[in-house]
Amino acid sequence: MSVDVSRALLCWYAVDKRRLPWRAESGERPDPYRVWLSEIMLQQTTVAAVKPYFEAFTRRWPTVEALAAAEDGELMAAWAGLGYYARARNLLACARAVAADHGGRFPDEEAALVKLPGIGPYTAAAIAAIAFGKRAVAVDGNVERVVARLCAVKEPLPKARTRLRALAATLVPEEGAGDFAQAMMDLGSAICTPRAPDCGACPLRTQCAAFEEGTPSLYPLKAAKAPKPKRDGTAYWLEHDGHVLLVRRPPKGLLGGMLALPEGPPAAADWRDAGTVGHVFTHFALDMRLLAAETRERGEGIWWPIDRIGEAGLPTLYAKLAARGIEWRQAA
Ligand code: ADE
Repeated sequence: MSVDVSRALLCWYAVDKRRLPWRAESGERPDPYRVWLSEIMLQQTTVAAVKPYFEAFTRRWPTVEALAAAEDGELMAAWAGLGYYARARNLLACARAVAADHGGRFPDEEAALVKLPGIGPYTAAAIAAIAFGKRAVAVDGNVERVVARLCAVKEPLPKARTRLRALAATLVPEEGAGDFAQAMMDLGSAICTPRAPDCGACPLRTQCAAFEEGTPSLYPLKAAKAPKPKRDGTAYWLEHDGHVLLVRRPPKGLLGGMLALPEGPPAAADWRDAGTVGHVFTHFALDMRLLAAETRERGEGIWWPIDRIGEAGLPTLYAKLAARGIEWRQAA
């Protein structure tokens, strides 16, 4: 069955694959730098959100050496809005390691790739397969779902993970592992979707045990999940003469190294409530209250022109809060 599955999938991919800016055309050799950059950007982020960032990054930094020479602040600002900012810090650390320790060439084995900053087992396998054609198994949520359906796996996630990985490994072909990995990604995102799979369009329908059973969307089975914890906090919008006070967050931890609004009162002032903004991070949901005030004295710190706040590279939470601050001053 596994040979039939991979053959059917590769035939479908040859015709129906998505044209994505990081994908090599048929017959073209993939550029490991572009494969790596796209895989890092695509960690927990959608293809639609990544595309403009990928294009801007590769225009500005066309090689890993060029990226390695970027300044930290410049790179963090270019990453602003993509989220999960540890990725951006690791991106730079990885580019510098490849430039300094590997002569500007990415290693082609999973075991060496996984030692580089920001490259976990999934990304190492995806790069080894896509950039170097290695028979590596890149298993993410999409692949788990496709395999759980193909084989109608009755064990729930997360326990089923080992089993799903072993099943996925049996499907990877000897030749064309990179196309196979990307075909699984396309199938998972366009056809074998979580809620309403489009089985009529699926190249694997006749081999799919869940389709045979009649209710593929029941898979993968999942153990009950604990709800995300909720937190709240307060941010401060302090204005002076068309400028707002920003701070740089400490390098480690949540949104590390990014510009932000202060989260303690930066001065004694007549603080007014300017609303609350909700934002969901990976491990918790945050409600952030915004207090706003104007000050007559411009103290120490980063005073950013409010009419150019879009250029500050604020992460999404603070960009939302800044929009509140701007509404507040317009109403005042
Ligand atoms: N998700 C992760 N890697 C991807 C890729 N190379 N193409 C499309 N979606 C992806």
